[in-house]
Amino acid sequence: MVNTSFHEHEAAVYDEIHQAMWKSLPEHFSIISDRILATGSVPDSLSLLDIGCGTGLGTELLLHTEIGKRVREIHLLDTSSTMMDHAAVRSRNWPARTFTYLGGMAALPEDSKFDLVLASSVLHHIPNLVCFFEHVAGVQRPGSFFIHLQDPNGDYLDDPELRHRTALGAKNTQPQLPRFILRFSPGRILRRVLRELTGRQHETYIDLTNKDLLATEVITSPLTAEEIWSVTDVHLYDGLGISLGVMKKELTKYELIHTHSYAFFGHLSSDLPPPLLLEERRLLRNNAPNGMDLAAVWRRCNC
Ligand SMILES: C[S@@+](CC[C@H](N)C(=O)[O-])C[C@H]1O[C@@H](n2cnc3c(N)ncnc32)[C@H](O)[C@@H]1O
Repeated sequence: MVNTSFHEHEAAVYDEIHQAMWKSLPEHFSIISDRILATGSVPDSLSLLDIGCGTGLGTELLLHTEIGKRVREIHLLDTSSTMMDHAAVRSRNWPARTFTYLGGMAALPEDSKFDLVLASSVLHHIPNLVCFFEHVAGVQRPGSFFIHLQDPNGDYLDDPELRHRTALGAKNTQPQLPRFILRFSPGRILRRVLRELTGRQHETYIDLTNKDLLATEVITSPLTAEEIWSVTDVHLYDGLGISLGVMKKELTKYELIHTHSYAFFGHLSSDLPPPLLLEERRLLRNNAPNGMDLAAVWRRCNC
């Protein structure tokens, strides 16, 4: 309920407050596309399921890649109807037939199968990932690909180098989204930054979320922005993030075919000043594992 209500209200400002994702994620989709094509086992015509499609950012960026050119059918899934409405409007410009499903994985038609499953900036919202991964495996045939990105890089969130770079990033950039400063900021700094950054959004989507939750008696007094995020961004606030090590044990029906990390200074590349951007690019080229964010591609195996 908190998750759905929050995203319902965030939908109105989502694209605006996530401009860095629009500007910075194309290169990561492009890397992912190249790696999938390099497997040499990709059909010319693909069906795509975008889980937690939001306003359609992930599908839109994927469609601009080489692998995206092979997508003939798009299936959008989201628990928020307002997010879905935005994605549906965006889909009018997509060169593939698009279907929409409101809800979680259970909202998909029985026996659905998809060649590509995409979860962009979604895994940290899913409380029970084991169950979620089982659902994902259930909608893919052997040889299909599961792509996820924009996940908090759980295996490295305590990495001293990442902490050092993130402190440097914070000094040299305009503060952006709360997720990048969560683990590194004492509460008092976090609250000041949130006030400066999200003043307007704070008055709108956080307050609107509270109104919904109060009206439906889910809560009896308003929650702070932080309290709401602790529910919606469950795998950020638990301090664990999304761990590739853990996923290797949980995604038993998949083999990992690609992984890369990014946001080495705690910010996406579009927010970095030139010297840090150069270093971000160098670390990305060297496939350094310890950025703030994680991207990966898995292939469903014959098991
Ligand atoms: C941070 S947004 C990401 C949107 C989009 N994928 C992107 O990359 O911009 C997370 C989205 O996941 C949706 N969501 C959260 N939990 C979900 C679930 N269990 N099943 C489907 N969608 C979910 C939210 O409503 C929201 O639209």
